Amino acid sequence: MLDSQILIFMEPKTYFVRTYGCQMNELDTEIMAGQLEKRGLTASPTEEEADILIFNTCSIRDLAERKVMGKLGRMGRGQKKNTVIGVTGCMAMAKKDSLFRKFPHLDFVIGTNNITDLGAVIDEVLYTKKQIFKTDDRFEENLDYLVAKRNDKVKAHVSIIRGCDKYCTYCVVPYTRGEEVSRPPESIVEECRRLVDQGYKELTLVGQNVNSYGKDKPEWNCLFHDLLYQLDKIPGMERIRFMTSHPIDITVQLMEAIRDLPSLCEFVHFPIQAGSNRILKKMHRIYTKEQYFEKVALLRQLVPNVTLGTDIIVGFPTETEEEFQETLEVMRQIRYSVAFLYAYSQRKGTPAMRWKDDVPDEVKQDRLQRILDLQDEIESEDRLALLGKTFEVLVERQNKDGKLLRGSTRCWRKVIFEGSESLIGTLQQVHFHSCAHQTFIGELLPAKKLNVI
Ligand code: SAH
Ligand code: SF4
Ligand code: F3S
Repeated sequence: MLDSQILIFMEPKTYFVRTYGCQMNELDTEIMAGQLEKRGLTASPTEEEADILIFNTCSIRDLAERKVMGKLGRMGRGQKKNTVIGVTGCMAMAKKDSLFRKFPHLDFVIGTNNITDLGAVIDEVLYTKKQIFKTDDRFEENLDYLVAKRNDKVKAHVSIIRGCDKYCTYCVVPYTRGEEVSRPPESIVEECRRLVDQGYKELTLVGQNVNSYGKDKPEWNCLFHDLLYQLDKIPGMERIRFMTSHPIDITVQLMEAIRDLPSLCEFVHFPIQAGSNRILKKMHRIYTKEQYFEKVALLRQLVPNVTLGTDIIVGFPTETEEEFQETLEVMRQIRYSVAFLYAYSQRKGTPAMRWKDDVPDEVKQDRLQRILDLQDEIESEDRLALLGKTFEVLVERQNKDGKLLRGSTRCWRKVIFEGSESLIGTLQQVHFHSCAHQTFIGELLPAKKLNVI
């Protein structure tokens, strides 16, 4: 590279990453931010002022993609001269270099397996002024998780497995994130130990299917529950969570780990997706409703205070009103404490594209509203039952109003209460006395006996 060429370009000084999608993307953003800071860049307070602007995107539903496309379309080149604009994440994998045709002002596209190439790609953009894309399908073995720049001081995400091999017929993730590849246990333990030493109180193990951990590497002899036993032993480990888990890999050993390991929280994301066996089969969820209920019953028997979360899709191709009613019935019977509810969105490249998206949009929206209302009703009833009790709460941060503190119980219930900022990062006893919408309002108590929930 000639010196004269280098001089033409202003070295970027600030960056901004806008994150869409799930916890995997949030963590990838932290890793990208860490890499950029390592090369001397600092975070820009706004998108408009940034020298490097990255959209870390999601493709899970049409709406997720439309949000980013709309934003990129509105930006044009004009907003700031010399800003380097890039798209990373799942939409980069789904659309690859076709994004350049749609958005000529875009400088780079980097897929989910090329995060470590970020610096080199930015250099190439700066020096060649060309549009650069890197969207490899192979897994990125040398990804440096330790470089992640964490914004939170109390809670951190730790990646334990990337990709997904389950191939649910509606889902783009196996195509945007590749096959399941577990991270070596030593590397995970090392990162968790460092985080605990730095004062982190709650670590969430993340992956598309965390409980498939280790199945791709039988020679390690370390399945998900084995990893949990290792992590629980780390001195000073207060709370471990995991997100998300596939029902098929929720084993008795995992349930026993939740019962027996002091740091492992009693909340399990147990996404059923639909309540009808015909639809579950068509979705390729590889369990029946009956098998799912058996697992839930066993888990509740072993861990009576466990709370459950779910994901559900309504309006899957050919879903009838009766089949939708079966999903409502599952909700009434299980009573999830958290539910992520979606209308089916047809995704290019998935097996479900073979079928006509035949549930009309109005019907999908109507089913979505009915299931949202039911979940609201269930949550409100269950919230009332918790009033008057005292729980162990991890104080996470100040509430948005800047006056109250905010924290969560082991079972992932959110509470706000009065208290000094110095309590952030500590475990406290909080008496739940009322609630506003989905948040409990509590009162800090001096140390005494707890209901652990
Ligand atoms: N690996 C996780 C979830 C990943 S995606 C699991 O299997 O549970 C998060 C959720 O988005 C899914 O659980 C599903 O409910 C929803 N989802 C995925 N693809 C979708 C689609 N095409 N339309 C609507 N919702 C979808
Ligand atoms: Fe998608 Fe299914 Fe994999 Fe979850 S398990 S990421 S829904 S393919
Ligand atoms: Fe979205 Fe990719 Fe996550 S599609 S939900 S960002 S794995």
